[in-house]
Amino acid sequence: MQNLETKFFGLNLKNPIIAGSSGLTNSIKDIKELEKAGASAVVLKSIFEEEIHHETEKNLNNMVVNGFVYPETMNFLEYDDMSDPVGDYLQFIRDLKKEVSIPIIASINCVTSQSWTYFAKYIQDAGADALELNIFSLPSDSNRSSQEIEDLYFDVITEVKKQITIPLNIKISYFSANLRGLIEKLSKTGIAGITMFNRFYSPDIDIEKMEITSSNVLSNRDEITIPLRWIGIMHNRVDCDLAASTGIHDAEGVIKQILAGANAVQLASTLYKNGSQQITKILSDLKAWMTEHDYKSIDSFKGNLSQAKQVNPAAYERVQFMKYFREY
Ligand SMILES: Cc1cc2nc3c(=O)[nH]c(=O)nc-3n(C[C@H](O)[C@H](O)[C@H](O)COP(=O)(O)O)c2cc1C
Repeated sequence: MQNLETKFFGLNLKNPIIAGSSGLTNSIKDIKELEKAGASAVVLKSIFEEEIHHETEKNLNNMVVNGFVYPETMNFLEYDDMSDPVGDYLQFIRDLKKEVSIPIIASINCVTSQSWTYFAKYIQDAGADALELNIFSLPSDSNRSSQEIEDLYFDVITEVKKQITIPLNIKISYFSANLRGLIEKLSKTGIAGITMFNRFYSPDIDIEKMEITSSNVLSNRDEITIPLRWIGIMHNRVDCDLAASTGIHDAEGVIKQILAGANAVQLASTLYKNGSQQITKILSDLKAWMTEHDYKSIDSFKGNLSQAKQVNPAAYERVQFMKYFREY
């Protein structure tokens, strides 16, 4: 019997397959199906910082007296009475907790550390087992220095950690001039985990209609190499757990990420393409592979091919195709 248990951001998970944040983690019905199929945890569809701001402003407008509002007033905001979407998000967490037994990871998309971070506490109070912050602002503003852009991560973590005691996970992008340095520093802030990486909505161009369109919403399995490189480089060099996201579509992808050093993986596109039963198939294929290779537990092969443990650490650093240019 293999033991598929793994630890991810302080939570003991029955296996490494987490249903990542997407439109499939937005309803109790879908999440129950994901749980039934074997998901060990679920990251809820994100609520956006803008949505929280909007609700806060609405409430403050009602409460401001002579143009002044005491900071303590924030504590008296009655979130239960909030209308869609903020109140709904909290109610969703409360309702979901009654319906499923796997850990529920709430999620917030944010681009600043201002005015919204108090909301993390309400998410905790609603019963979320952990919180994932999807932090990203496209580095397209030349007036902002690289340092300012990176400071955002640390400012958000500092503010949110003041609010909650449940594990905090940060979902990051791979846009950074010094990604290894950034990940190392982030891992020392007291966060419990890092999800690598978010995959963004990206523009495309329709050359007939001459308009900007959206590119593939769903990933393909070739994209797995992006998180694979960085999980492989960062394993054993961080003070928190790592989850891989992007391009993981089957058991082979899951095994690769664990061999590189991931504690867990987050799936989205493959669940859209193949339904929640894909999780059942992945778990069964994962067990078969472990039997074939005589691994009794996830920990027994986790990180075995990471850069730190590999005989050929340069393999993760190689970026030019020198040899292949000659061969092709
Ligand atoms: C339709 C859709 C909606 C998504 N919504 C969110 C979201 O609200 N918050 C978030 O952090 N990630 C969101 N994601 C990103 C996924 O969680 C995941 O990181 C990304 O799709 C890469 O994983 P994949 O290759 O398994 O799809 C979404 C992805 C899709 C396809």
